[in-house]
Amino acid sequence: MKVIPVGFSYKVYTSSDEMDAADRELVDTAISQLDHAYAPYSNFHVGAAARLQNGEIFIGSNQENASYPLCMCGERVALYNAAAHRPDIPVTAVAIVIKNKKMPISGPVSPCGACRQVISEYENKHHHKIRILLKSDPSEIYEVDSIADLLPLGFNGSFL
Ligand code: THU
Repeated sequence: MKVIPVGFSYKVYTSSDEMDAADRELVDTAISQLDHAYAPYSNFHVGAAARLQNGEIFIGSNQENASYPLCMCGERVALYNAAAHRPDIPVTAVAIVIKNKKMPISGPVSPCGACRQVISEYENKHHHKIRILLKSDPSEIYEVDSIADLLPLGFNGSFL
């Protein structure tokens, strides 16, 4: 028997002023999408923005439904938006910003398991790491180097 440790490190920025201009723009774009969220049931707004290798940004926000299982997460809307427009261009980073209209959330919130799986799919598809930028409104910002850090031992197409 052996034990294999799994771990990762991530960066914490106290303010977007500490980030480079491109990442700051990505986070600001995700913030701008908080008001486009359709979240009448949860009041949990998610704004997202995906950066492509060619520099373009595609936006998304969570879209809810009275039939709860049909709700779609903001980061998936952004990624599907990017994939629908630019299927062959790798995604290099995704910014995900949340605002809970019912109670303040003091720190960044990580993507749900389904979204980790979807982000991982695009990382594998393009053989390119996707950096994840996480923020609550307001909070510091976390930067994770790759979705693989948030989804160790993940399932992927190589098994099929
Ligand atoms: N949500 C996201 O948009 N992204 C996540 O990673 C977690 C949850 C949305 C779905 C739903 O509209 C609301 O947040 C509450 O779950």
